[in-house]
Amino acid sequence: MRLRPLVRVCLSTALIPQFRVEEYITVVIDILRATTSFAVALDRGASEIRPVRSLRACRAYKRLGYLTAAERGAQKVPGFDFGNSPYDFLAADLQGKKIAFTTTNGTRALWAVRHARKVVTGAFVNMSVLLNWLRQQDQPVLLLCSGWKDQVNLEDTLFAGAVATELEGDFRVNDDATLIAMSLYQMADHRKKYYLEHSAHFERLVELGMQNDVKYSLRRDLHPVLPYYQEGRLVNALSVPV
Ligand code: MLT
Repeated sequence: MRLRPLVRVCLSTALIPQFRVEEYITVVIDILRATTSFAVALDRGASEIRPVRSLRACRAYKRLGYLTAAERGAQKVPGFDFGNSPYDFLAADLQGKKIAFTTTNGTRALWAVRHARKVVTGAFVNMSVLLNWLRQQDQPVLLLCSGWKDQVNLEDTLFAGAVATELEGDFRVNDDATLIAMSLYQMADHRKKYYLEHSAHFERLVELGMQNDVKYSLRRDLHPVLPYYQEGRLVNALSVPV
């Protein structure tokens, strides 16, 4: 009888060297706010998101006709078209536009797993589409929590636990990091906001007046897209052949 594929959680980008990412479909998670913003931008019609690691690279794409989004320390970097708030992208006409994107953690995590078997990004706002696609792939899955500057964080871990819990019937779990994430989710499921109100990044965003970004980022299935990393950029796998 064929074993069900594994689902595993990597609690921080710093731990990626412990995984042979080429063996996994990897889901990059950055709930507050990069992978939430990616889903919003693609759902608003952006044709691609080009994740880059530096502000300099982001500026270079501007000269190639890209729109640009840059966040550092949770704030929009002056001189770029957008920061990293989902509301930046909800308010914009993005139809057919290309966006070069750099953030403190999310785009860095994407770079760290660029050689994985396949790479997609996940968030509460596109969760059901992600779950359905992962079940169809029927391959080992690695849920990468971007965290904050290599520190483990609550929101990414909680989402990874939610995904692993939902996949449990179709996937196997055999490691403690995944069990930790699942336990956190099962404790917090109906009180996500309460649990997350004390997360470091929640407090950082509230101090910056961005509490609405947090509320938006915790809502499920607002944006039925699947950001898929192909040839160095994210495209919506539901609207282009991948
Ligand atoms: C990140 O990628 O580091 C986060 O999304 C930070 C933020 O924009 O709040």
